[in-house]
Amino acid sequence: MKKLFILAAVGTSLSIFVGCGGKGSPGRAYMPDMAYSNAYETYTDAQSRLKNSGAEMTPQYNAMPVPGTIAQGEMASYRIENSEEGYAQSASVKNPLTTSAVDQKEAERLYLVNCGICHGAKLDGNGPLYKDGNGPYTAAPKNLMGDDMKKLADGTMFHVMTYGKGAMGSYASQLSTKQRWEIVTYIRAKQGNGGAANNNAAPDSTAAATAQPK
Ligand code: HEC
Repeated sequence: MKKLFILAAVGTSLSIFVGCGGKGSPGRAYMPDMAYSNAYETYTDAQSRLKNSGAEMTPQYNAMPVPGTIAQGEMASYRIENSEEGYAQSASVKNPLTTSAVDQKEAERLYLVNCGICHGAKLDGNGPLYKDGNGPYTAAPKNLMGDDMKKLADGTMFHVMTYGKGAMGSYASQLSTKQRWEIVTYIRAKQGNGGAANNNAAPDSTAAATAQPK
């Protein structure tokens, strides 16, 4: 019995000494999926993260969706680039939604949550963040009721919400494609008759955009 005990003790200490290879090596991660979190994190480049961690095997998957992927229930994605040419091109893009097809209460909610803080609940470019230049935000937001904004094409409004412009950031991650178009119809409805496209059904919103307000 005593012999057995000594043998077991020697065996255990031997395996401890051999097991700890030392030299700062963490040893082999033969199941890296278990050693390193492989949780689905959108936009994380999991593959290179695992490679950098020294894991010998890297699971083959790509966290990014294939370019052009459309989420279920989402509208077709916007293809125009974020560039000066893209900004000009955006004027020819038509709003796929008509004002009457949009729940204006919801569109108003989206506007007030995302835009009102700068552009104001009255769309006058004087929201609580700006407050006549006395607020914390010093760049003047556009007065969306101004003549220039009434002439701005639906597509350009959408383009600006998608990519941002100057001091205004992009709202593409906060608002889906559909929600951005809904906000366009809300701004048009508020602008009234002078708005370039209370004509979202007009054949060419570029022409509408350059037309003089009546
Ligand atoms: C943080 C403040 C801020 C928020 C929030 C904001 N904007 Fe702006 N917006 C600005 C500023 C500043 C400008 C002027 C940018 C420039 O021309 O340099 C601007 C410009 C614009 C323009 C004019 C673009 C052009 O082509 O001249 C439109 C249209 C617009 N915003 C719509 C919106 C909408 C719709 C939302 C909500 C989704 C929104 N903005 C949210 C600050 C903001």
